[in-house]
Amino acid sequence: MELLLFMFLTVIPVISDGLTVLGPSGPLVAPLGSSVVLPCSVDERLSVEGLEVEWRRTESETLVHLYQEGESQTESQQQDYQDRAHFFTDQIQHGNFSLRLDDLRAEDEGQYKCKVYIQQESGETVVQIKDVERLRVSGSSRSISASVGEDVTLNCSVDSHIPPGDFEEVTWMKTDENIQVLLYQDNEGHSPNERYRDRVELFPAEIHKGNFSLRLKSVRTDDKGVYMCQVFAGDLSANATVVLERLGFSALHVMMLILCISASGSALLLFCLIYCRFNTKGTNTTGKYSDLL
Ligand SMILES: *[C@@H]1O[C@H](CO)[C@@H](O)[C@H](O)[C@H]1NC(C)=O
Ligand SMILES: *[C@@H]1O[C@H](CO)[C@@H](O)[C@H](O)[C@H]1NC(C)=O
Ligand SMILES: *[C@@H]1O[C@H](CO)[C@@H](O)[C@H](O)[C@H]1NC(C)=O
Ligand SMILES: *[C@@H]1O[C@H](CO)[C@@H](O)[C@H](O)[C@H]1NC(C)=O
Repeated sequence: MELLLFMFLTVIPVISDGLTVLGPSGPLVAPLGSSVVLPCSVDERLSVEGLEVEWRRTESETLVHLYQEGESQTESQQQDYQDRAHFFTDQIQHGNFSLRLDDLRAEDEGQYKCKVYIQQESGETVVQIKDVERLRVSGSSRSISASVGEDVTLNCSVDSHIPPGDFEEVTWMKTDENIQVLLYQDNEGHSPNERYRDRVELFPAEIHKGNFSLRLKSVRTDDKGVYMCQVFAGDLSANATVVLERLGFSALHVMMLILCISASGSALLLFCLIYCRFNTKGTNTTGKYSDLL
């Protein structure tokens, strides 16, 4: 029994944690969609003989990249990382086992472990992607039609890792005329433009949800055009547009128009009736009229 155990222990290579693996000095922050290099290196010159480098997500143990037997073992790596994780094979000889992660996504936030095995030694370092900076603005894919005199809402919603209260600036521009319709700064919105003053507002209770939709009141014919919602946060900025088109007349306008037409029609009819009567029975009426006098 003891002999068996002894044999077992000698067969398994003894791995000591003697290797010092270096990582980044702090957590990493990178914009959504960009590429980020997760640093991992050793500062001693090593023979690449029997080298193994394993990159894993710490929480899920998902295999991000594996370098073994002198090559990247892409088939053992998680599908999602096959095209996005790039290992610098030419840097191995310099003891550099960094990994570049492309097309950064929000889900990439978290901890990564770089574990290096060489001969009888191993060591590891942890790299954290703290923030995947994102700032996405969406407007309205379909154009808005409104009637003169009506109020409309132009949609603008912002998705970001930054709380909406921390945005430096949000502006609504009318791009076809290059007019600043509304400027939101220091938690306050106002219109710097005469034409829109007192006619535009945001929904203050909705701002914390990233809803920067614009309420445009008493729409006028010249309001027709393209509106852009622009958001600025740090060195990030994003925008989206909404088209306001087909400014028709409201039901109220149409009704009033019909009323006007019918009113003038009736007046005309009345006038005609009196006039015609007066003409045909002219003498008669005159006679009666003089009789009265
Ligand atoms: C490792 O290689 C990558 C890619 O060339 C480089 O960006 C990084 O700075 C290198 N790290 C070290 C410690 O040399
Ligand atoms: C504006 O946003 C709301 C809520 O997401 C949605 O129901 C509505 O259809 C949007 N309007 C337009 C014109 O896109
Ligand atoms: C923003 O809030 C307003 C007012 O509640 C609502 O009408 C609009 O649909 C909201 N827009 C989005 C995109 O959520
Ligand atoms: C709006 O965003 C697009 C990218 O989505 C960018 O190319 C364009 O320059 C931005 N426009 C303005 C006026 O910021």
